[in-house]
Amino acid sequence: MNLPAGIALPNDAPAAGTCVKIERPEAGLALVRLDPPHRKMPVFDLALMRDFALALDELEADKGLRAVVIAGREPLTFVAGADVDVIASITDRALARELGRFGELLFDRVARLSVPTVAAVGGPVPGGACELALAARWIVLADDKRSRIGLPEVRLGILPGWGGSQRLPRRIGTPAALEAILTGRLYGPREALKLGLVDRLAAPENLVRIASDLALGREMPRSFKKPLPARIVDSNSLARSFVERQVRTKLERETHGHYPAPFAALELVLRATSTPLEQGLEAEADALATLAISPECKSLVTLFRLSEEAKKTKFLADGSEGKRLARIGVIGAGVMGAGIARLAAEKGVTARLSDVARAPLDAALHVHRKEVGRQLAKRRVQKHEADAALDRLELTEGLVGFDRCDLVVEAVVERLDVKQKVLGELARRMADDALLATNTSSLSVDSIAEGLPHPERVVGMHFFNPVAQMPLVEVVRGKRTADWAVAAVAKLALELGKTPVICADVPGFLVNRLLGPYLDEAARLFVAGVDPEHIDSLARDFGMPMGPLELLDEVGFDVAAHAAESLAAAYGPRMHSAKLIHDALAAGLKGKKGGAGFYLHALDPKTKKAKRGAVNPAMARFVAPGKRTIDYGEATILDQLFLTMLNEAARCLEEGVVAGPRELDLASVFGMGFAPFRGGLLRWADTLGAKDALARLRRIAGAPDVLARPEGAARFQPAMLLQTMAEHGGRFHG
Ligand code: NAI
Repeated sequence: MNLPAGIALPNDAPAAGTCVKIERPEAGLALVRLDPPHRKMPVFDLALMRDFALALDELEADKGLRAVVIAGREPLTFVAGADVDVIASITDRALARELGRFGELLFDRVARLSVPTVAAVGGPVPGGACELALAARWIVLADDKRSRIGLPEVRLGILPGWGGSQRLPRRIGTPAALEAILTGRLYGPREALKLGLVDRLAAPENLVRIASDLALGREMPRSFKKPLPARIVDSNSLARSFVERQVRTKLERETHGHYPAPFAALELVLRATSTPLEQGLEAEADALATLAISPECKSLVTLFRLSEEAKKTKFLADGSEGKRLARIGVIGAGVMGAGIARLAAEKGVTARLSDVARAPLDAALHVHRKEVGRQLAKRRVQKHEADAALDRLELTEGLVGFDRCDLVVEAVVERLDVKQKVLGELARRMADDALLATNTSSLSVDSIAEGLPHPERVVGMHFFNPVAQMPLVEVVRGKRTADWAVAAVAKLALELGKTPVICADVPGFLVNRLLGPYLDEAARLFVAGVDPEHIDSLARDFGMPMGPLELLDEVGFDVAAHAAESLAAAYGPRMHSAKLIHDALAAGLKGKKGGAGFYLHALDPKTKKAKRGAVNPAMARFVAPGKRTIDYGEATILDQLFLTMLNEAARCLEEGVVAGPRELDLASVFGMGFAPFRGGLLRWADTLGAKDALARLRRIAGAPDVLARPEGAARFQPAMLLQTMAEHGGRFHG
């Protein structure tokens, strides 16, 4: 079985036969170890696939073979899925299909071996690694919190293409397979066992022994029976069409037609249990080939690689990692502080949370208990882990115990004097090498550090709301912040499951600075008489998670007004904002938290959460009277929203606010949800081209409505970088 002809092994690929070893621990048993010498964490690259095919040649020819166990180098090192670099590089559909087919046939040979086969897996087992396991008769998973198994391919804009879309529904039933494949979730040991995705758990040190016992028939596997609803859906085409309609409607609502992968996966998974395997595999290869060369896939894979790179960054010039911060303190138990402390406690970092008032502390504990209880009920954690997570959140109304913290994050009210006072008090109590972090969103880290004894230990650690869900943390380096302090905070962010992006200490840092003009343009469109639903739905159709006016409601008019003022004070006319939000505030409208903003928000009795309702008629009075001077067509609206954001992004690059376009793109997607299928703000800009972007910016700058603004068209004056790029035909990404 040869690799597809159109794809070459890299020159430095290890010699044939070195990536997979066959051990013979006892008569008749082959223990196949996937152990490529060139990778610390193996992936299914071409070399490993080539050698796995060679190993299968040997097994198929072995007359004395009684059982096969497939394992990784170590119990918690199996294979981290397919090689994303290969997915990123393929642009030819026929080749993509051939490569998919190669993987399918390779794993099908495992399924066709005439002896019992067991996959002994552990650690991360995503995508292709899980598909190999699914081809084995039984799967034993290492019982460790680092073990996570599943099929996350749709997150990369593709689908499980090495048999996964066909074998998972056969194994666990169509409904559960749909849930697993369409969400791309990775499951921990207990959840995976309950789902029937794996057959047995084993302590890591016993993994191979138990897998061998199963393979040789010395232990019988637990028998898993699909739940009744799954059996009905699997065998009844009417039930399947019902499920299909429901899921399709949900997907359409969620994807706005921008993500083809889940739809393709839906079709394949739904038909799997009623289609012969070989036919299903052919259809899977077709679908994979189309998706793998799509622009959506390329954008999502690029983002994935950027976020993986961010995880591996060492942050220190000598290549070393930052210091680990095992015990943190959080001051202020409001929306942000409580969120940060709870997250830390869940992720294994002891968090001492303090507030001047008792009520927010009690509320934080209540939410923490509820969330940990939910995790336990869903078998995502075990009882002892849940108990430890509860113990790790410590509450206090004073500052007792903060002297033992490695870092304190302050999340008190957004006032310089209060923040300086709080941090000054802490600096006196804490150890000499302890770090002081601020979650401020609009104050400067340098001004907060002013007057503190060790400004080199003061860092911005800007989380986004809601803390548990937003993947970005801006790590803000003040002028005097030490490198080791930045590195330690970035490492902490990673430990909390976030992606850190290092930013300069400029007003708004990166994300809020980009959001400022975008939100303000939306407000101005509203004043000009454009229907708010229309503005928001255009932005959602563009790929934003919510529209800009919905976002203003969400953020709250008070917070938005404050942020706009500080941006205007720092950057002058181009950040001047419309009076709208101030006027609405003065009229008692606050956005979602007050029940009314651009929309009305009522409490949903079912979920007990505020739900966005109709457009708020009380906002109509802020629409400017008189005739409009421009026609706000869709293209104009989108340009006004997104080209302003792009223009500001170009200025951020000029000023070195982040290291480069890659970091900016990552932050735009992870911090504001900028259309992931577009790969980030600057990748989107590259698809427009600088010349086009420039011409369109200039067109807006000349529009009568814009010229009539008190500050004129300052916002639309193209950034130098854009002008240079337009002249020389440059791109943000090489
Ligand atoms: P919040 O008003 O919900 O919470 C502030 C908490 O700090 C309150 O519980 C208050 O009792 C407590 N507090 C005030 N003074 C204190 C003191 N001297 N010592 C101890 N506790 C004290 O505010 P929120 O929204 O959590 O914001 C906190 C910080 O996070 C602010 O700097 C804000 O700019 C920033 N931030 C807010 C975001 C948001 O969306 N709410 C997003 C990102 C950053």
